Parts: sequence; structure tokens; C-alpha cells
Amino acid sequence: MRSFFHVSDIGDLNAALAEAREVKRTPYQWHHLGEHRTIMLVFFNSSLRTRLSSQKAALNLGMSPIVLNIGQDSWKLETELGVVMDGDKSEHLREAIPVMASYCDIIGVRSFAGLTDREFDYSETILRQFVEYAGKPVISLESATVHPCQAFADLITIDEYWRADQAQGLNIGRRPKVVLTWAPHPRALPQAVPNSFAEWMNAADVDLVITHPEGYELDPLFVGKAQVEYDQMKALQDADFVYAKNWSCPGVTCPQDYGKILSKDTSWTIDDWHMAVTNNARFMHCLPVRRNMIVSDSVIDSPRSIVIPEAANRVVSAQVVMKRMLESL
Ligand code: CP
Repeated sequence: MRSFFHVSDIGDLNAALAEAREVKRTPYQWHHLGEHRTIMLVFFNSSLRTRLSSQKAALNLGMSPIVLNIGQDSWKLETELGVVMDGDKSEHLREAIPVMASYCDIIGVRSFAGLTDREFDYSETILRQFVEYAGKPVISLESATVHPCQAFADLITIDEYWRADQAQGLNIGRRPKVVLTWAPHPRALPQAVPNSFAEWMNAADVDLVITHPEGYELDPLFVGKAQVEYDQMKALQDADFVYAKNWSCPGVTCPQDYGKILSKDTSWTIDDWHMAVTNNARFMHCLPVRRNMIVSDSVIDSPRSIVIPEAANRVVSAQVVMKRMLESL
């Protein structure tokens, strides 16, 4: 595996999920693979889960992780080509990427969308430079438009809980109904998490419904065959999994509003009233989450909330991806 950005990079999903179960059962089985190997984890933006789960996954595989916080531990980096570098950025990605790549075997990069220029963000300008100049396998640790490590962990979690239900004789012979619901947030957030969640759920054995206020339509490339329902309560009806997330305007139906907050409607906050119309759904969120904005305390603290096991599975998803990259070096 040379890159991990999209669901297509992981190949057969059932095989990937089986591998994830094996990695979770015996995480140190492949410790020899990473011997004398180094992964560079480059962060342009803050992180708790991605940073720690990636390091843990690398250590489980016997690999040495190096973490670099751009602009804090390093020089500030220029990301745009052809500019006169007379500002506060001392080094260009054009040099920094091959230098970093010369110190490692795999590179992971977190670089959020700027949310001002849709074309710059949706062409994954920074991630593409890593691919072009690193010459090493590259993992998106959440780039401008995708967060595949999160979406893979989300799928592993849904698969795990659905299998556990079926082992108890529940929900036999049907696919889970998974609802991705927009929820309010005080700041403008990127679309990477909902984009990847939709992309991965479309490829998985689930029925996906996406619900959001008008104007928040995700890029059709990610929505795929999912049902889009503007009435949130209707969408949540009989859901087995409720995945809440905020995102800013993707600029699909209103390009001039790209990256803006169009609504802070708190009637979209997931609370007991919303969960009551579901099929006793499990609640999911990628974290970090704003309590009583995205979800009420009562829902996230309930026994049906699986946000902590979901976060724990970030190690599993990262480890499957790194394992495959190590095997192909
Ligand atoms: N879900 C997620 O990516 O968390 P962090 O931003 O803390 O890494």
C-alpha cells in the first residue's frame, strides 16, 4: 500500500475488517515488521487521538514514531507554490518534505482545510505535495477533505457491535441503518470526517442516511448512493447507529458560502428526544465533541454511547494501514 486516503486504498473491506479483528486480538504479532523502520507523523494542526493512536500503532508494530508539530517544533512552512517568501514562513514544503522523508520509511500528515478556497482544499494541494516530493508511502491523518483513519475505525466499531448483537440473536439477516447527522457547533469545521464517513459507509454493508439543514450538502463524490433526508427526526427513525458531526458549508449548492456556518440551530443537538425514535441506536462521534452543542450529556453518558471504544479502535485502524505499508516496503 503506497497511500491511504480513500476507502479504495484498503481493497476488499471484508478482508480489511477480518484483518482488523486479528490485529485487535493479537496486536504484537507483527512486531518484527517495523524493526529498524521509522514513521514520521507531521501535524500542521492539533490532535489528541490521531497523534496518540498512530504512535501506539507504530510501537505495536515495532516501528519508531517521530512526531513533528509544524510551526511549533519546526520552522513555519510555506505551502503555496510560486510565492515570494517574504513573510513569516522560513521554509517551503518543496524542501521540507523530501528532507523529512529522508529520515523515515512512512509519512503521516495532518493538514486541515483552510475553508477559504474550495478549489485549493478539494484538490488536496498539501497532501498531493507530500505524495509528489516524499517518495515514501503517505497516510492522511486528516487532510483537507478526508479522514480515512477515523472512518476505518468507525467501520470497525460498527462491525464489532453489529456482530456482537448478532451473536446474541439480534438483528439477524439485515443490514444496520446508519444515520450521519449534522449537529451545531460554534466554529466552522472542515468536511473531512463526514466526507470519509459517507465514503466508507457507502462501501460497507450498511444502509446510510445523511441528514443536515439545507445548504450543508456534502460533495456528491462522497454522498454516493446514500439517502439524503432534510428532516432529521424522519432520518433518525429506526436508526441502529447515530453518527453526529458538525461540518461547515461544503459549497456544493452555494459556492459563495464555502466554509461558512449557515446554522447554529440547537434543535439538531442529539438528545434523548432524538434517540427515542431510533432502534435503541448506539451513539457515535469521532471526538473531540462539544457537549450540549453536538450531543446532550444524557446521550453521550448513556450506555448506548460508544464514543470511547470508537476512539480506542483508532489504534486498530492505524495499525492495519501501517502493517500493510510495512509489508509492501
Ligand atoms: N478524531 C480525531 O481525529 O481526533 P483528534 O483530532 O484528537 O486527533
